[in-house]
Amino acid sequence: MTLTGKVAVVTGGSRGIGLAIARALGARGAQVAITATSDATLRAAVAELGGGGAAVLPIRADVRRHAEMEEAIGQVVRRFGGLDILVNNAGIGLFRAVADMSVDDWQTIIDTNVSGVFYCCRVALPHLRARGGGWIINISSLASKNPFPEAAAYCASKAALNAFSEALMQEVRYDGIRVAYIMPGSVRTEFAARRPGSDDWRLSPDDVAQVVVDLVAHPSRSLPSAVEIRPSQPPRKG
Ligand SMILES: NC(=O)c1ccc[n+]([C@@H]2O[C@H](COP(=O)([O-])OP(=O)(O)OC[C@H]3O[C@@H](n4cnc5c(N)ncnc54)[C@H](OP(=O)(O)O)[C@@H]3O)[C@@H](O)[C@H]2O)c1
Repeated sequence: MTLTGKVAVVTGGSRGIGLAIARALGARGAQVAITATSDATLRAAVAELGGGGAAVLPIRADVRRHAEMEEAIGQVVRRFGGLDILVNNAGIGLFRAVADMSVDDWQTIIDTNVSGVFYCCRVALPHLRARGGGWIINISSLASKNPFPEAAAYCASKAALNAFSEALMQEVRYDGIRVAYIMPGSVRTEFAARRPGSDDWRLSPDDVAQVVVDLVAHPSRSLPSAVEIRPSQPPRKG
């Protein structure tokens, strides 16, 4: 599959899963813009991605701010001429019991993992329609379906993201815009809680990136709209 001539935006594309997705899309010929809030990680990502000769546009923009995402996606369209693929990957987890969670922590999770996706979709949709269609791929989590203690805000935010994705999918499918969400299990990134012992059982960010490129390669008559991906052999419980 080639993505030559296609333009992609990956939010939170400076590290972890987002960086792997940007690399995979770029390797197939897409022009890719990555967003994040820190200049330092964006610079490091561009040094890595650009080394392969791919066209990469780094943009400092916070998904929690609608105006910043409007400016960011506008910049992508001015630079590359349009938009075909939006990957809403930026997300955070703050893991605390509900009784210990501050109102600010709650708000930060909801603003990033839910409102941020709405802002990016809202801004991107007219550009995707202008191209006659495209993809919106939202990075959710298996935590959306398997809630666990000290993660109520995170699990709730990802469950909301699933519902948002399914509703949006039905709104825009007849415009040729295909919406899917991916629910990874534990992935080896800075985000994942460190546990003693080997990390080898976890998914690699590249495994999630592979799902993204597989989705985009699907024939247009088919829409795999939700994908679960989990480590094959996690540590046995008990
Ligand atoms: N790792 C896992 O085990 C796992 C499992 C299932 C799902 N996920 C989901 O996968 C996605 C990526 O996770 P990850 O593990 O790759 O995380 P990560 O390594 O912490 O990377 C997060 C990325 O998002 C950016 N980011 C954070 N807040 C942002 C904001 N407000 N605006 C714009 N960019 C922002 C970060 O850059 P800056 O810090 O510079 O802003 C970074 O590029 C998240 O949605 C997460 O919920 C992760």
